[in-house]
Amino acid sequence: MKVTVVGAGAVGASCAEYIAIKDFAAEVVLLDIKEGFAEGKAMDLMQTASLNGFDTKIVGTTSDYSKTANSDIAVITSGIPRKPGMTREELIGINAGIVKSVSSSILAHSPNAIIIVVSNPMDTMTYLVHKTTDIPKHRIIGMGGALDSARFKYRLAEALDCPISDVDGMVIGQHSDKGMVPLTRMSTRNGVPVSNFLSAERLEQVAADTKVGGATLTGLLGTSAWYAPGAAVSGLVQAIANDQKKIFPCSTLLDGEYGLSDICIGVPVILGRNGIEQIVDIPLNDAEKAQMQASAELAAKTNSLLEI
Ligand code: 2OP
Repeated sequence: MKVTVVGAGAVGASCAEYIAIKDFAAEVVLLDIKEGFAEGKAMDLMQTASLNGFDTKIVGTTSDYSKTANSDIAVITSGIPRKPGMTREELIGINAGIVKSVSSSILAHSPNAIIIVVSNPMDTMTYLVHKTTDIPKHRIIGMGGALDSARFKYRLAEALDCPISDVDGMVIGQHSDKGMVPLTRMSTRNGVPVSNFLSAERLEQVAADTKVGGATLTGLLGTSAWYAPGAAVSGLVQAIANDQKKIFPCSTLLDGEYGLSDICIGVPVILGRNGIEQIVDIPLNDAEKAQMQASAELAAKTNSLLEI
């Protein structure tokens, strides 16, 4: 299994690190446009191999896509991150050009690669990859829901005052402060609905804190987060590499599922060796449907800013 991570910034380097630490990939290629940067990150990470006990080979390159040839999976993290006060949508102008050119360069050397899009605004960048490449939709995956769900579980565990391993929950919809749909009704603490433990008001607060999870971190860090995004990507990559058939909410092109079409938005999918092997169309109640509809409208509005 060969994985390319484009962009050796904090998110890309964290992806490479978590993938390596989980030790399921033979090789991770880290590529960046900044001279020597990816080589440096790769060397630093390789010097953790004996300490962290992994055998994954990490190779860095400055823009040499020939080194990425025959990748099974390519993760696109490149582009500018948000600064405090910015929305993910404001990044569209610069990041669209970058994502278009990166996906085309990746596919020129790895025509069978599964592409995982991380760059923001993520759902729209995922849609852009669909519109500007000719690869089938099951090979284009937007990473946002896995991250938002991890943040949701963190907030749920905090409210429940319990270990995170006791909590299960999922966030669907657009990966944006306004478009996320935390599925509070379906969240559980070890199989017991969380509404047994938390008031409706507390659960609303959990959902609200989850939706601004990225913005809260951007305010604290001065740039966007990287540990949880990197770990979320590594989970998707591992599910594909090991054909795990795990469910993650991912951004994918919808064709009637959830009553939506021609839009990329986060919904539960089963991930295996072929990428998105199934979209799981769960029945939503009227309030959740209305939130998904509003979320899709936000995503469509952002998509309309693309110059394809
Ligand atoms: C986040 O929410 C980077 O969009 C990413 O942290």
